[in-house]
Amino acid sequence: FPLAEWRECARQALGRRFLSNWIKDSPEVDDPLLIEQIRRRILPRRGIMARDSQILVTLGAQHALALLADLLVGPDTTVGMEEPGYADARSIFALRSRRLRLLPVGVDGVSLTGLDACDVVYVTPSHQFPTTVTMPLEKRMALLEAACEHDFIVIEDDYEFEANYVNEPCPALKSLDDEGRVIYVGSLSKSLFPGLRLGFMVAPSRLIEEARAMRRLMVRHPPSINQRTVALFLSLGHYDTLVRRMHRVLRERWEIMGEALHRHLPDSTEAPSFGGSSFWVQGPEWLDDLRLRDAARERSILIEPGSVYYGARNRPRNRFRLGFSAIPTERIEPGVKLLAETIREMERKALSGMNARP
Ligand SMILES: Cc1ncc(COP(=O)(O)O)c(C=O)c1O
Repeated sequence: FPLAEWRECARQALGRRFLSNWIKDSPEVDDPLLIEQIRRRILPRRGIMARDSQILVTLGAQHALALLADLLVGPDTTVGMEEPGYADARSIFALRSRRLRLLPVGVDGVSLTGLDACDVVYVTPSHQFPTTVTMPLEKRMALLEAACEHDFIVIEDDYEFEANYVNEPCPALKSLDDEGRVIYVGSLSKSLFPGLRLGFMVAPSRLIEEARAMRRLMVRHPPSINQRTVALFLSLGHYDTLVRRMHRVLRERWEIMGEALHRHLPDSTEAPSFGGSSFWVQGPEWLDDLRLRDAARERSILIEPGSVYYGARNRPRNRFRLGFSAIPTERIEPGVKLLAETIREMERKALSGMNARP
C-alpha cells in the first residue's frame, strides 16, 4: 500500500485550505470531489454512467446493504439470496424479513428459477461470493428481463470491482439497466483497505434521497475528513497506480494458487475467469470443513469453512474458501501443499479409526 502517498493526501486534507470542507456536519451533501471521482473514475470502469444525485457515500458496502434493507424490506418482503452467499447480507435481510428465498448458485451464477416470487433479489454477479463464478452477459440480460416481468428490485453487490484482471470484465448489471431496477453497491475495502469503512451506492435519485435521510438517522454521514482524503488519493492518480499494481500482484498469486491447487488437490476447483482474490475449493465428500479449519490452523494455514455461507440447514460440509490477496507469493505453494497433506492425514486418521478394534 502506498503509505507515503496516503499520508500526503491525509496531510493535504487536514490543511487550512480544506478546513471548511470537513469541519462542519454535512448530512445532506457528500464530499463533491469524492462524488466526482466515483462518477468519473470508478463507475465508468464498470460501464456505469450516473449523475451526482444518484450516488450516496456509505460506511462500506455493508452500510449500504443495511440502508437498503431498512428502506425496501419489511416482514413480508420476499428477498432472493444466493445460496451459498454472503452470510452478513443474509443476516441483514433476515433481521427484517421472515421470507428469504435461497436461490442456488451454479457455474454461471444464481439460478433464475424461483425469482417470480421475489420482491428484492440480492446478487454478486461479477464475483459471486463465495464461489467466485461470474454471471455471463446473456444471463445478466435474462435476470434483468425477469426483474421487469416479475417486478422485483435487484441489489448488485460489486464488492470486488477492482479485482478483474484476467479477462475483459463483464459490465456491471447496473450498466445494462434501463429501468432503474438495479441498485449498485460498491466497496473501497478491497481496493484501499477495510478499516477505512467507505463504500457507495448508485440508484435512482429518489431512492438516494430516501437513503440519505435514513443514513442521517443512523450515522448522519461518513466522516468528511476521510471522504476528502480518499477524494485526493483518487484525483491525484494514486488510486489508479495502486489498482494497476494490485492487478499485477493478484494475477501472479492467482496463477500460483491455481497451479498449486491443480497439483496438490486436483479437481478441487475451477479457476475463476475474472481473477478475484480467492478460490472456492471442494474437498472429498467425507471432509468436515470446521475440522479442517482447526487442523489447518495448527499448521498456520487459515481457511474459511464453506458451510457458513449456506443458509439452508442441510448444507455441504466439504467446501472452503482460500483467499490469496494477503499471502506473500512465495508462501502460497508450500501452504497449499501442507493443506493437501493435512487433508490426507485427516483421511488416514478417519480410516484407521474405522478399522480400529474395540
Ligand atoms: C460480498 C461482500 N459484500 C460486502 C462486503 C462488505 O464490504 P465493506 O467492507 O465495504 O462493508 C463484503 C466484505 O467482505 C463482501 O464479501
